[in-house]
Order: sequence, then structure tokens, then C-alpha cells
Amino acid sequence: MLSCLSSRRAPGQAKAACSRAWLAPTCCSMSTSDSAARYSRGAIILHWLIALLIVGNFIGAWTSEDLPRDQKMIIMGYHKANGVLILLLTLVRIGWRFVYRPPALLATLKTWEATLARATHALFYLLMLAVPLAGLGLHSAFGKGKPVSMFGLFDFPALPVGSDKPTIGLYHELHEVTATAMLLLIGLHVAAALKHQFLDRDGTMARMLPFLR
Ligand code: HEM
Ligand code: HEM
Repeated sequence: MLSCLSSRRAPGQAKAACSRAWLAPTCCSMSTSDSAARYSRGAIILHWLIALLIVGNFIGAWTSEDLPRDQKMIIMGYHKANGVLILLLTLVRIGWRFVYRPPALLATLKTWEATLARATHALFYLLMLAVPLAGLGLHSAFGKGKPVSMFGLFDFPALPVGSDKPTIGLYHELHEVTATAMLLLIGLHVAAALKHQFLDRDGTMARMLPFLR
């Protein structure tokens, strides 16, 4: 399918001409494997579902801080179940990525942009495993091996870690540091997505959003 997503045009300028690209192929120089290529439907669903759950977990952790203990316990219960769900969905997503290879990065990206994109994506996958695992470690150490209740539906086993103070401190530190790194990475990732959408207009966003053209 021929699309004009990666052609650098002023807003609205060559859009009409590009929609008739099959009549005048010279209007768009991109190839079919460039920005016309999208992530698979499954990868798109997993991306946005996990992103939503991650944002929810940050909001939950922050808002629970100032609440009375009983309310904090309820929110943290959801935080933990949500976090384990993120861990499980990330494993599915990594498996999915092996089966359905993602589209190649846009050929129009500068070398530093492509390197940064690859590094950001790899670090994201690492953190999507490390943040919930550290949280699970913290829960396991603090709760002396008590399982995590998955929204009251079933129990997810705790990690086999000690419950002494240094272990609790270690996992607490790990959870906080990895969550902060994830937050910084989300900031960078969203800024990059907005830059591609509104400054470069190269169709990067459409690769991950099925309703964008
Ligand atoms: C991607 C998933 C997760 C994210 C983004 C996340 C994020 C956070 C953040 C930002 C905090 C506040 C950090 C602080 O200032 O101490 C926090 C606290 C906490 N998280 Fe998570 N978390 C996730 C998964 C989990 C999981 C899976 C568990 C346990 C099963 C968990 C257990 C906890 C606990 C027990 C605290 C409270 C620490 C305290 O009271 O100081 N988290 N989390
Ligand atoms: C908040 C948590 C988020 C996480 C953890 C996350 C993670 C990721 C990862 C790992 C990839 C690479 C996919 C792969 O190649 O397998 C990716 C791609 C992408 N993300 Fe996110 N993302 C998040 C939020 C967002 C948001 C809010 C936006 C838009 C504002 C966004 C826009 C995109 C786009 C456009 C791509 C495709 C990049 C490309 O084609 O090269 N993401 N994201």
C-alpha cells in the first residue's frame, strides 16, 4: 500500500496530491516498507494496554502516599496485582515480538535517532521486567513470602527472598530506582513521539496508532 506519511510536507500542502499518488508516483518517494509498515495489531494492543497499566501504577503509587493506612492498603493491593499483570503481559509481548517482527525503523531517521530509538526500546523492555520484579521482591521480603492476590481471582506466588531488613531495603531501593528510570524514559519516549508527529511529520506515530494515516 502506498502512503505519503514520510514525505516532508507543510501541513495540508501536498496531501491531496499524495492521495492520488497512484496517478503520479513521483509525488512520493517512499517505499512500501517504510512508514507504511505498521506494528502488528497484537503488538499495538499490547503496547497501549501496558502503557496504560504502567501510567495507572505510577498514579496509584503516588496518590496512595498521603492516604490513611486502610485506603493505602487497598490501592497498593491493586498496584501489586496491576504490576504483576504488567510483568506477565511484558513476557507475552516479548514472545509476540519474536514471532511478529516489528517493522524496520524509518530509513529517514538520522543515525543518532535510530541508535537512541533502539536503546530506548531495549531499555524499556528491561525495565518492564525489572520494575515489577523489584516490586514483587519488595512485597515478598516485606510480606514474608505471602502471595500477591490478583484482584481476588487467584494468587501469584511470592519470590523466594529473605525477609530481613537489608533485603527489604535492597528491593525497596531497586524498585524506586528502576521506577524513576522508567519515568525518565517515558518522558524521553513521549517527547520523541511528539517530535516525530508534529515536527518531522514522518508517520512514526501511525506505525503504533491504527487510526492515524
Ligand atoms: C511496572 C510496574 C510498577 C510500577 C511502574 C511501580 C511504581 C511504583 C512507584 C513509583 C512506587 C513509589 C516508590 C517509592 O517512592 O517508594 C511504588 C511503590 C511500591 N510498589 Fe510498585 N510499581 C510497579 C510494580 C509493582 C509490583 C509488581 C509490586 C509488588 C507485587 C509493587 C509493590 C510496591 C510496593 C510494596 C510499594 C510501596 C513502597 C513503600 O511503601 O515505600 N510494585 N511502585
Ligand atoms: C508509558 C509507557 C510506554 C512504554 C513502556 C512504551 C514502550 C514502547 C516500546 C518498548 C516500543 C518499541 C516497540 C518494539 O519495537 O517492540 C514503543 C514504540 C512506540 N511507542 Fe511507546 N511506550 C509507552 C508509551 C507511549 C506513548 C504515550 C506514546 C505516544 C505519545 C508512544 C508512542 C510510541 C510509538 C509511536 C512507537 C513506535 C516507534 C517506532 O515506530 O519506531 N509510546 N513504545
